[in-house]
Amino acid sequence: MKFFIDTANLQQIKEAHDLGVLDGVTTNPSLMAKEGISGYEHVINHYKAICAIVDGHVSAEVISTDFDNIIKEGLELAKLDDKIVVKVPMIKDGVKAIKYFSSEGIKTNCTLVFSAGQALLAAKAGATYVSPFIGRLDDISTDGLSLIEDIRLIYDNYAYETQILAASVRHTMHILECAKIGADVMTGPLSAILALLKHPLTDSGLAQFLADHAKAAGQ
Ligand code: E4P
Repeated sequence: MKFFIDTANLQQIKEAHDLGVLDGVTTNPSLMAKEGISGYEHVINHYKAICAIVDGHVSAEVISTDFDNIIKEGLELAKLDDKIVVKVPMIKDGVKAIKYFSSEGIKTNCTLVFSAGQALLAAKAGATYVSPFIGRLDDISTDGLSLIEDIRLIYDNYAYETQILAASVRHTMHILECAKIGADVMTGPLSAILALLKHPLTDSGLAQFLADHAKAAGQ
């Protein structure tokens, strides 16, 4: 399973990259705003800065919601770097735009997906990635992970090439369950990725090893 980091924070992207396990980045308008990134030039330069750090795909989301402007914005984003994936919301004009981008060989990430029906549409339109938001479904007492299972089944039934990008991942259990189900990618915060490192037996075991080594060496 590929690991994407879900942030526009350059320091966190670099930290995940330096760990050696980062396969890509997802951003959204809220994450860009959180970093104080606004205005055309600033936004464009920030995407370029992210692309300079990572080796994999970088999702850059359009703000437009009508077909013509989604296409205009998406083409501008796509030409920034080969790593850019145009992130398009799951709305009627978004699906039409995904179909267009796909016919032009431009990579897309269909975002704000909350049902298997929406994921089916995204695949039929030729999306490179589909982003079901599991954390936000959990937030409203709906099982986000079962949506990932449903999409996996549907995509496997028809050998759709659209990759399942489990989004709105909040913690390690989300990551592990997505890996068991067979999500192609997960995107989450740096904290969730780093939390995978943690086990109390690792900490106590290492402390014991170091103590025994020091004792044997007469320190
Ligand atoms: C997906 O690409 C989104 O950026 C993201 O995963 C949303 O996560 P949130 O629900 O934690 O905001």
